[in-house]
This record gives sequence, structure tokens and C-alpha cells, in this order.
Amino acid sequence: MLTKLGYGILSIIIALLSIFSPALNFRRRPADAIMRMVAVSDTHIGSMALRVAGGSLCFNDIAKTIDPDLLLIDGDCVDEANEENWTAFETIYDKYCGVENVLMTLGNHDTWEDYDTSHDYDAAVARWLDYTNRIMNYRHDSPRYAYEQNGFHFVVLAQETTSTAAEISDAQIAWADGQITAAEEADPGRPVFVLLHQPMAYTHGIGAGDIDDTDESFTTAQASRKFMEMLDSHENIIYISGHAHHIYSNGQLGYKTVEKVGEHITSVNLPSMLYGGQGAVIDVYEDRVEFMGRNFLTRTWDNTFRFTVEF
Ligand SMILES: [Fe+2]
Repeated sequence: MLTKLGYGILSIIIALLSIFSPALNFRRRPADAIMRMVAVSDTHIGSMALRVAGGSLCFNDIAKTIDPDLLLIDGDCVDEANEENWTAFETIYDKYCGVENVLMTLGNHDTWEDYDTSHDYDAAVARWLDYTNRIMNYRHDSPRYAYEQNGFHFVVLAQETTSTAAEISDAQIAWADGQITAAEEADPGRPVFVLLHQPMAYTHGIGAGDIDDTDESFTTAQASRKFMEMLDSHENIIYISGHAHHIYSNGQLGYKTVEKVGEHITSVNLPSMLYGGQGAVIDVYEDRVEFMGRNFLTRTWDNTFRFTVEF
């Protein structure tokens, strides 16, 4: 963990940035937007000074410049899921972010107390619930839960093992199906946001080293086809994942940050917040959802990633 002096220096840097960056970078929330969200993934907070500093700078820009109504953190919240890293996460979240409404998902790193030696799923989930129930300000007793805000619905899913891929059972797919149906009935015509840390297999052209988008040991594993078909049987799904750590791209090197999957799914694969600072600001309107890329570390907008989902 940082020392008191370390946190003092960090706070001064953040205070100085906060004075200048809103004026330079403020993009006013449109008056007709129903709500403003921020979505980030792979925050990989740890107790090392660089992870603390990087996470703090990004969280501060999110809270102070963007000021969202809802923040989505799509897994790999911590780098290793031990007390030290979770304490670092909670400390910097409380100090520099504190957005009241936040949804977090369980990533593969959130199931690894130690990369190499300790992979105990039940113990990791218990710790994840302990911390996220304090940070999220929304009671949940499982990493699979449903949430509603301003008439928009979020279905949060989670891997069921400690593997790198998302192993998800038929029971979880059926549960998600039921939650999405209930959301569509409650607020007809509106898209439903589905969050899982891993992208679906065969999507985004993910090519990282020896990993490609057909590698089921990296994406949604054996459940992919069935899972995708279930999502596509609904009207309008916005599927948000992370995990790949790619920077925003519209396909020049084969990888695409956002793509249409099937007939009814818009799939968004978020970059890593820690490794590069990128994430999305999302303005939700009565008839559309607008995504805008932002680098929360450099406090700049990124027009490589801008698109709209209409409904
Ligand atoms: Fe991951």
C-alpha cells in the first residue's frame, strides 16, 4: 500500500488536475439525456504504487469530470483477489471516486487470490461479495444479479469457475433469459444491458498473441453458441465485456471494439482502464444510447470509439 506521504502527493496531483481538466475537457451532459453512465473494465487495482496511482487518476476523472449517474466496472476489478488488493481498491474508490451507483462484475482475476497458487472459487466469490456489497451500495448475494435504474435494465453474469474463460452453465443461461424477458416486459422497446467480463467466442476478431476469437479457453467457453442464441432471441441487447485489453479499434488490424452479433446484439468489448486509461461515457436517451470513448488517464475524448444504438 502507499504510505501516508504517498497518498498526500497523489492527492495534490489529482487536485491540480481536477482544477484544470474539467474546464478543458468538459462535455456537458445533454439536457434531454435520461442518464449518463461510464463503463470501464479491467481496472486491475493492486497495492503497487503504479496501480494505485493509475486507478486513482482514472477514478477521479470519472467522478469529477464526468459525474455519471451509474458506473459499470466489468470485471478484473483487482489484479489478485487477496485482502491487500481489495483494500487498495476500496481505499482509492472511496477517496477518489465514490460514484454512488456502481455495478461490478466478477472477472477471472477476481477469482485468483494468487495467480499461481490459490484458485478457490467459493472463497474468492465470498471476498468479492464482501467488498462489492460495500462499494456498490446495492445489496446482492451473488455475482449474478439484475438491476434497474431510470427504467433501464442490467443483467450481470459471472463465470462459475476460476478459469480464464467464462464457464457458464445452462442454468445461468436460463436465468439470464428469464431476467431479460422480465426486463423487456417491464420496459418494452428499450435495450437490455448484459454484462459479463469475457466476450463471446467468435466475436470482435480478438487476436492477442496466440489467442484468437475462436479460442474458447479465453472467451465464453463451451456455452458460446447457446448463450449467443439466447441473447439473440431477444429484441435489443447491448452486451458489454472486457478481458482482452485491446485499445479502441474499428477494425484496421482485424480487431473491432464494437460489432453487431446476430440480429439483435450490439457487442462492445471495453479496453482495460488500467493498461491505457480507456473507457466509455454512455448517454442514454428516450430513443437511443450514445457511446463516446474517453481516456480517463489523459482526460481526453477518443473519437475512434463513437457509436449510437437506436431503439
Ligand atoms: Fe480478464
